[in-house]
Amino acid sequence: MTRSSRIAHAAANNARLFRAPGRANIIGEHTDYNDGLVLPTNTALYTWLTISPRNDRLVMVTAESLAEHGRFDLDDIAPVQHPTWIDYLKGVAAEIETTGIELKGADLTIFGEIPIGGGLSSSASVEIAMAFAMLGIAGVSMPGREVAKACQRAEHNYGGVKCGIMDQFSVACGQHGDAMLLDCRTLTTESVTIPVEMTLLVTDSGVKHRLSEGGYNQRADECRKAVEMLKAKDSSIMALRDVEPETLDVHAAMLGKDLLRRCRHVVSENQRVRQAFHALQAGDISGVGTLVKHSHMSLRDDYEVSCDEIESLVGIADACDGVLGSRMMGAGFGGCVLSVVRTECVSDVRREIGEKYGAICGAEPWIHTVSAAAPAGEVAVT
Ligand code: GLA
Repeated sequence: MTRSSRIAHAAANNARLFRAPGRANIIGEHTDYNDGLVLPTNTALYTWLTISPRNDRLVMVTAESLAEHGRFDLDDIAPVQHPTWIDYLKGVAAEIETTGIELKGADLTIFGEIPIGGGLSSSASVEIAMAFAMLGIAGVSMPGREVAKACQRAEHNYGGVKCGIMDQFSVACGQHGDAMLLDCRTLTTESVTIPVEMTLLVTDSGVKHRLSEGGYNQRADECRKAVEMLKAKDSSIMALRDVEPETLDVHAAMLGKDLLRRCRHVVSENQRVRQAFHALQAGDISGVGTLVKHSHMSLRDDYEVSCDEIESLVGIADACDGVLGSRMMGAGFGGCVLSVVRTECVSDVRREIGEKYGAICGAEPWIHTVSAAAPAGEVAVT
């Protein structure tokens, strides 16, 4: 369905329409749950959600893109051990209600344009659309950052994923066409406009990741363990955010090879985020590309969250004329590759990546040009 047919459909059914974008992260991977820095932007791929209030406390959901139905009762909303998509929605409602807001039952239809498990925040986008819609029919407004925090708690408590705040915050609070430097400790932000000479291209490796499968939480646990060890030596260290590269050198033996590498990724990635923000401000798009390349090497070698397909794709993309740097995006273990591309070369790069990666994986890959997205919220239907 096109945007206008979604509006017409909602109007014909006397429903309200909400949407939330996807997010592409330029740089700053696995830093958010370490109280660090990230530099995401949103992209015009949306989760669409139509909603009508009910007179009871039931929430009845049709997930169009999954061709599935689900339901839950706002009065019976405990987390389950093996969550499915409906539990994320349940979690959003539950976490909003824990703030003292009373929600209403509703009939919902959800349609997602964002590939699931591709690193473009499909789940955060659904959560934020759900939150805005449920708050909308309850007649309550909540600041975007509080909505983001409630949705992050939903992932933790109902989805079983100990994610950081980047995805939910970017989707709920990101501004049209800008990249956002987000400090995940203070939740303060600074915006920078993406220069027109630079385009972000996202290519799906075709390998789906599921954060609930364990690798993601395992990395988060490793970081927590390293922080405990470092804190015993210096009580001012509350998170890897507080660690300097020299501190890692001093405590290398104590941390051991694996934890040292995990820490080295997070500490160096925070530095790269700041540098990339300044490079964007200065319009130095080659500088951004180089930092993106270094981010990938660090994620591959130190954080060990890449895989063979992602390596092939990054190699193919980086070999194209006009690509300034590529890296895995999101949690890793599959998903999408982000490339920083000179805008005048985008169509050639798309063709070359499509042909070369397509020849390896046997099908044309899905390639998306990141474009300025409207902020999450309600879409007027009248
Ligand atoms: C996922 C999580 C985010 C973040 C990234 C890795 O997208 O939801 O919180 O940790 O992985 O940077």
